[in-house]
Amino acid sequence: MITTVATTPIAGQKPGTSGLRKKTPVFMGRHYLENFVQAIFDVVGAKGKTFVLGGDGRYFNDRAAQVILRMAAANGAARVIVGQGALLSTPAASHLIRLNQTDGGIIMSASHNPGGPNEDFGVKFNMPNGGPAPESVTEAMYQRTTELAEYRICEAQDVDLDRIGRHRLGEMVVDVVDPVADYAALMETLFDFRAIRAMFASGFRMRMDSMCAVTGPYAVEILENRLGAPKGTCVNAIPLPDFGGLHPDPNPTWAKALMDEMFAPDAPDFGAASDGDGDRNMVVGRGIYVSPSDSLAVLAANAHLAPGYKAGLSGVARSMPTSAAADRVAEALGLACYETPTGWKFFGNLMDAGRATICGEESFGTGSDHVREKDGLWAILLWLNILAVRKQSVAEILREHWAKYGRNYYSRHDFEAIETAKADALFAALRAALADLPGRQVEGLEVEAADDFAYTDPVDGSISTKQGVRVLFKDGSRIVFRLSGTGTEGATLRVYLERYAPGPAGLDLDAQAALAPVVRAAHELAGIAAFTGRSAPDVVT
Ligand code: G1P
Ligand code: ZN
Repeated sequence: MITTVATTPIAGQKPGTSGLRKKTPVFMGRHYLENFVQAIFDVVGAKGKTFVLGGDGRYFNDRAAQVILRMAAANGAARVIVGQGALLSTPAASHLIRLNQTDGGIIMSASHNPGGPNEDFGVKFNMPNGGPAPESVTEAMYQRTTELAEYRICEAQDVDLDRIGRHRLGEMVVDVVDPVADYAALMETLFDFRAIRAMFASGFRMRMDSMCAVTGPYAVEILENRLGAPKGTCVNAIPLPDFGGLHPDPNPTWAKALMDEMFAPDAPDFGAASDGDGDRNMVVGRGIYVSPSDSLAVLAANAHLAPGYKAGLSGVARSMPTSAAADRVAEALGLACYETPTGWKFFGNLMDAGRATICGEESFGTGSDHVREKDGLWAILLWLNILAVRKQSVAEILREHWAKYGRNYYSRHDFEAIETAKADALFAALRAALADLPGRQVEGLEVEAADDFAYTDPVDGSISTKQGVRVLFKDGSRIVFRLSGTGTEGATLRVYLERYAPGPAGLDLDAQAALAPVVRAAHELAGIAAFTGRSAPDVVT
């Protein structure tokens, strides 16, 4: 039986670049989830359609899935494909949307944010191409949340999402599928599993940290079962509703246990971690950390070693705050190179148009046109493929890369949970000063240009403005100031720092040491301490 429930608009249901993200109790509040899901169906239409549904397993994932299914049925959807246990990594969901030529999908996740009764939850809609909804669509959803007067839901028992196979919910078909199988099959088409298997068989050791989040089952199946990595290679491999109390963000701060292991005397050859919903990755060699910007560059330079990319790349794209290391590779290979605003959706357009094959962000996101999301395990597997073919260590590969292309020292400093008004004031002052910056000397660096990044999408012509304040220096150094669009508490100021050293010079210099003058210049230019009261960042990556 379908019930129409009277409701009233709920303030602040404005999805950002990664869907609607709020504290779990907010999502669990009266009508909250329902209002947003109804807004989704009102905008994209549900009648007769097929959707994919799954999430990263965080607290409330299972119950939210049942609500979304009942609402999909009440709104006339024909079929929903759900990962067993309501689990799907974000890249696996993207793949299922494409593989089954569905009308899109709903992903329940707050990505790398902690999960639990008092942590974060999120809902995001992906389009039939498998990628996140563009701003025009999320904006329409937001508009709809401000005017909704009712939502539709079926009265029914829970669907048994633990049982693979076909179920029915009213008139709607619910197909519960193995969340890993199709994704693993896709990976087998892209990478040289035989070569990687041989590498593991010869004693190569790896530690894969799934951070108690969704990639655990994917990593165990692919790395241990199919590639023969020793049992125990995958740690924190069981997805938990609170991610075991961990902050499932694969960076040196939150994946400290992995970093410690990789810098210990008996470190494995290769370490990797992925985030809550499996789209991010961190890669570490024995005793050497690979920055995401460098990882993108190395993957672009070596992708042809994997069967899925042996014909070469159509182009490379990076988000604006990501270092220019990938640009140097693109230039050397004669490839088109794009600089987009932060957020994966901009890459989707380029991939759909066949203009970019590999894309990446400094925020531990790398991926290719095999799906329309970034893909943590994909990046890890491509690294494994490269290591298996080149038969060198991660350190050797990085050193050769820097010697050939030069090194882009890079770091991001985050100042979290700043009062929104203070952050806004900092940006207002920074923007007001932009025109006067060129020519100014700061910390021995001369400003060459400064602007607020704007992007015209080369595919659909859409324009995105105010994407981050850039300060470019004469010596090629760069500072970018941006406010996070994904935080759930106050404002997060991100300061992106970069300095270029050509050739083998300074290969062993530590990134923070190399960037010290750029960091001081950033503080001076933006008056970070004066505006925010903070003199040191909370997270350094
Ligand atoms: C952050 C990252 C950005 C990424 C997004 C979604 O967004 O910086 O690169 O696309 O998460 O994973 P931000 O909080 O900076 O807006
Ligand atoms: Zn994520």
